[in-house]
Amino acid sequence: MSPGDPGGVAHLYVHLPFCASRCGYCAFVVEVGREDAQDAYLAALLAELDRERHALGPIATVYLGGGTPTLMGGERLSVLLTAIRPLLAPGAEVTVEANPETVDAALADALSAAGVTRVSLGVQSTHAHLLEVLDRRAGPDDATRAVDMLRAAGIPRLSVDLLLAVPGQSPDDLAADLAWVTAADPEHVSWYELEFKEGSAIARGPHTPPDDDLAADLYEQAVAGLEAAGYRWYEIANFARPGAECRHSLACWRAADYLGLGVGAVSTVAGTRWRNTPGTDRYIAALGARRAPARTSEPVDDGMRRRERWMLGTRLDEPLDLAWAGPPDHPEALDALAARGLLERGEGTVRLTRRGRLLQNSVVQEIMDFA
Ligand SMILES: C[S@@+](CC[C@H](N)C(=O)[O-])C[C@H]1O[C@@H](n2cnc3c(N)ncnc32)[C@H](O)[C@@H]1O
Ligand code: SF4
Repeated sequence: MSPGDPGGVAHLYVHLPFCASRCGYCAFVVEVGREDAQDAYLAALLAELDRERHALGPIATVYLGGGTPTLMGGERLSVLLTAIRPLLAPGAEVTVEANPETVDAALADALSAAGVTRVSLGVQSTHAHLLEVLDRRAGPDDATRAVDMLRAAGIPRLSVDLLLAVPGQSPDDLAADLAWVTAADPEHVSWYELEFKEGSAIARGPHTPPDDDLAADLYEQAVAGLEAAGYRWYEIANFARPGAECRHSLACWRAADYLGLGVGAVSTVAGTRWRNTPGTDRYIAALGARRAPARTSEPVDDGMRRRERWMLGTRLDEPLDLAWAGPPDHPEALDALAARGLLERGEGTVRLTRRGRLLQNSVVQEIMDFA
């Protein structure tokens, strides 16, 4: 390879950790009340990009995630995307996560001018009482306003994140979320089941998760409602208009290599996985001193690769190629799951049935050992 040749890694994630407050259910690497550090953090990101650019490109997908990327403001995001632009493949997908209350017309225009092709809007719920349970800053109207401003600015594709199994959420609440989605008409929807993550405020009470039957009913209601509205259920929690699947997420589910920049970011390149350790000030200090940020690193061995390919590949509605995924730990489970109507076998492939995908986590645990 000669200097200037692309390095081959086609997927880039950039972590922007700043948030105005921490939502009660969130266990991600975030920095609250540190807006003063945003310029230094941007400089550190640009320095890490410079250190790693030899591995990158042509880049097919970029994902700016958080934290709250839009809290960085349009100007800083433009600087970051301008630095990435020379590495992009033609037609690259460029996604930015946005919180509804941070979107105004100036930000939407800045994202559009910076070449953002996709905004993923963290709506979570369209109900004031559930947004309150989640400690969200946005109110029900902020999401609608944000959608209108992003559309007016010409962002080509919108995705919305919603949550189900929120304490106190009823089937009627979910039906109203579905009606909001139908009216807002985003190209893509991610509808996650709320996890009570260890260490998050919500896990300490007073709220408790809904029982499993209600959670399963809400999930099936979301799938049925979105399919009726013309979305394809292409991954267990993701739905898209034809051709509007998230290419960045698809690459992750297909276990492609990716590079992650920023505090807490994970990379997997050529059989090695590393994670920048949390700690924004230390990250900024290391890159300011022209050093690599503190990292932990491990080889992705054959067992780990097989487990991940099974775990991720069975999330999708496409067949999993057994030659690619590698042998299952419990091959006898495949026929047993097929007999229970949870899995279909093809020529050298398996695919979960619709029923199997609703139970994906427990199905894949019967096929592979994850302990
Ligand atoms: C890391 S957040 C960042 C996006 C943005 N800051 C926001 O809050 O909308 C990305 C998505 O992860 C999902 N998420 C975060 N915590 C979760 C949890 N405990 N259970 C399920 N989904 C969660 C939410 O839907 C959220 O939109
Ligand atoms: S859910 Fe989003 S806005 Fe809330 S603390 Fe987590 S990253 Fe920040």
